[in-house]
Amino acid sequence: MIVNGVSVDVADGVSVAAALMQLKIIPRRALSGEARGPLCGMGVCFECRVTIDGQPHERGCMVRAREGMEVRSDEG
Ligand code: FES
Repeated sequence: MIVNGVSVDVADGVSVAAALMQLKIIPRRALSGEARGPLCGMGVCFECRVTIDGQPHERGCMVRAREGMEVRSDEG
């Protein structure tokens, strides 16, 4: 997986949201600048939104990380 332009290794089967948490990367920021991150882990809260392979507002908790996937967070 490539996060904000940097290639990283993640465990097989882990979600994008979990991978970002392991890497200590904040998925997104609120308009106020407050850091936001996964809350429900099951696709309901939308707090884990990131850009995946150019598609914005993907819920990271609902997508499994895979090799070659490009993820962009608000930190990137
Ligand atoms: S953590 Fe709630 S939608 Fe992903």
